[in-house]
Amino acid sequence: MSNKTFYITTPIYYPSGNPHIGHCYTTVACDSIARYKRMQGYDVMFLTGTDEHGQKIEQKAAEKGITPKQYVDEIVEIFKNLWSYMNISYDRYIRTTDDYHVEAVQKIFKALYDKGYIYKGEYKGKYCTPCESFWTESQLDENGCCPECHREVTEAKEEAYFFKMSPFADRIEKLLLETDYLRPKTRAVELVNNFIKPGLEDLCVSRTTFKWGVPVTFDDKHVVYVWIDALSNYITALGYENTAHDDYAKYWPADVHMVAKDIMRFHAIIWPAMLMALDLPLPKHLAVHGWITFNGQKMSKSLGNVVDPLVLGERYGADAIRYHIMREMALGADSSFSNKIMIDRINSDLANDLGNLVSRTVAMVFKYFDGTLPAERESDPIDDELIAMAKALRGTVDGFVDETQLNNALAEIFKVISRANKYIDETAPWVLAKDEAKKARLATVLYNLLEAIRISTTLLSCFMPTTMPKVWEQIGADESLITYENAGKFGVLPENVTVKKGDVLFPRLDIEKETEELNAILLKNAPKPAEDEDKANLVPLADTIKIDDFGKVDLRVAEVKACEKVPKAKKLLCLQLDDGFDTRQVVSGIAKWYEPADLIGKKVIVVANLAPAKLCGVESNGMIVAADVGEDARVIFVDKDIPNGSKLR
Ligand code: MSP
Repeated sequence: MSNKTFYITTPIYYPSGNPHIGHCYTTVACDSIARYKRMQGYDVMFLTGTDEHGQKIEQKAAEKGITPKQYVDEIVEIFKNLWSYMNISYDRYIRTTDDYHVEAVQKIFKALYDKGYIYKGEYKGKYCTPCESFWTESQLDENGCCPECHREVTEAKEEAYFFKMSPFADRIEKLLLETDYLRPKTRAVELVNNFIKPGLEDLCVSRTTFKWGVPVTFDDKHVVYVWIDALSNYITALGYENTAHDDYAKYWPADVHMVAKDIMRFHAIIWPAMLMALDLPLPKHLAVHGWITFNGQKMSKSLGNVVDPLVLGERYGADAIRYHIMREMALGADSSFSNKIMIDRINSDLANDLGNLVSRTVAMVFKYFDGTLPAERESDPIDDELIAMAKALRGTVDGFVDETQLNNALAEIFKVISRANKYIDETAPWVLAKDEAKKARLATVLYNLLEAIRISTTLLSCFMPTTMPKVWEQIGADESLITYENAGKFGVLPENVTVKKGDVLFPRLDIEKETEELNAILLKNAPKPAEDEDKANLVPLADTIKIDDFGKVDLRVAEVKACEKVPKAKKLLCLQLDDGFDTRQVVSGIAKWYEPADLIGKKVIVVANLAPAKLCGVESNGMIVAADVGEDARVIFVDKDIPNGSKLR
C-alpha cells in the first residue's frame, strides 16, 4: 500500500427521515474524489456515517413507541442501502451511537473541561413549556413564538456547559482569511464579519432537558449537546481517544471535509476551535457546496419536495444520477433540481455524446475491419488536436479534483468526448472506407477514437463506476490497461485491438414523455406534510375578513437589487428593492435561511404600505412576504417576467 494518504469525509447525516437526493450530493462527490485518489495511488480513508443523538430523534422514537436506538437502527439501514445502491465506496461508517465514539467524546469533553475551555454556566433562552424546548431568539417564529407549536414562550434558565470560543478568534480569522482552508474562499470574509468581528460567542455544549445523548461523565444530569459529539466523529472514527481503530496517526489531519453551506459555520469556526483547544492539527480543506433546490427552495422532508434517488436510479441507473448531480453543482452555489434538466443532460451528454461515440466507433471497427484493427498506421495533422487534448486531460482533471470542482472536471472530460465526435465528422471514416489505399489511415482514425474513449472513460470511471467497465469491454481495453498512469498516455491499446459489440450504454429518452411521467411519479411519491403528522403544527386559519380589509394591504412585486447582512443583528438582512416606483429599503428577519447572494436579482412580494419601522436601528419600509415551513421561513419568489411594481390582488 502506498505511503501517500488521503482522508476525506462527508458530514454525518441525521437519521431523522429517509435520505433524499440532497443528501446524495456530498456523498457522491466525496466518493468520486476518493475513487480518483485511489486510482492515483493514494491510501484513501473515506468516512461517512450518521449523527444519531438529540431531542428530535428522542421525540420521533417516542411518537412511534420505540426506543431511540431502534428508531435510528431502522433509518441507518436505509441510508446504508442507498449508499450501496449508489456505489458509494466508503472505507468506514461511523455511528455516533457506537460505543467507541461515545467513550471518546466523553474523554474529549472532559479534556476540554480540564483545560478550562469548557465551563458550567447558565443557558438563558426562550422556553416552550408544551414542547419542553429551549429556543434561541433567532429560532423563534415571526411573532416571537415557539417555532414548533407557535405558542407563547417564556424566559427561562437552565444549567449548562459552555465552550469558550474567544481564545481562538485570532487564529481562526487567520485560518479563514490567510490560508486556503475554506473553499470557496469568498465565504471567508462573510464568516469573519458575521461571527468573529462582533466577538465569538461561547457555544452551549450540554443539555439537561433530554436524555438521548452522550452523558457527561462528571455531571450525569447533562448530555453532550450535538456539535461536540458530531464534529468529533472525524477523529474518533480514526481511533482518537479509543482503541476500536488505530488510524489517527496515519490519516489525520483530514485532506477534505465536504459539507453544505448550512453547516459551514460549525466546520469553519467551531471545529477548528475545538481542535485548537485540544492542541490537534487542523484539517487541510473545508469544501462548501450549496443546496440542491427544488423550485428555488432547499429540498427537505418538511417541505415535501424531496426527490427520491432510488426512483430516479431505477429509471436511469445510479451512474446517470451520479453524473447529473455532480455536473450540475458548482462549488459554493446552489443547484436547482429539475426533472427536465436531468433528462436533457442524460440525453445530450450520456446518450448522445458518450454513448454515440462508443457505439459509432465500435460499429465502424466491425464494419470496416470485422472487429479487429490492422496494425498499419498513417497519421495526419488533423489528428494532433484530439491527441493533444486527450493527453492533457488527466492533468486538467487532476487539478479540478484537487480543487473539489467536480463539475469542471466532468466538463473537461466531456470536451474531449465532444472533440472526438467532431473528429469523426472531420475525418469522415465512411469516405476513407471507400478507398482501399486509405485502409491504414482509416485504422489510424479508429484507433485514435478508441484511445480518446479509453482515456476519458478511465477518468470518468471514478464518477460513474458501473458503466465504464462496459465501455472498456466494448473497446477491447483489458482492465489491466485501465490505470491512472495510462490515462496520461496516448497509444496504450494494442495496435491490432479487437472490439466487442455490447448493449447500448444509455438509451435515448423521449424528453417530453419522460419528463411528464417522472413529474407524475415524483408528485405521487412526495410526502405531503400538511396532510399527515405535520398538520397539527400548522398555524390555525385566521378569522374571516371583508375584501375591503384585504384591499388595505398593498402588496407589490419588487426586485432585490442589493442585499447585505445587518451588522450585529444576526437575524436581519437589509434589502434594497426596486418596487417599480423607487428604491426602497426593507429589513427582513431571514438571515438564518438566506445569504445575500441567494436573493440578489430575485423578485419578491413586499407589503408596500406598512408603516416604516426601525429594526436594530436600521430603517425598514415594508415587509417581504415569506411562508413559515416548520422551523424555517421561505421567501415567496415571483416569476421574473412580472414587472416591478405590479400590484397583487
Ligand atoms: N448532522 C449534521 C451534520 C454533522 S457533521 C459533523 C447535519 N445533518 S443533516 O442530515 O441535516 O445534513 C447533512 C448534510 O446534508 C448537510 O451538509 C446538509 O446541508 C446536506 N443537505 C441536506 N439537504 C441538502 C440539499 N437539498 N442539498 C445539498 N445538501 C443538502 O447537518
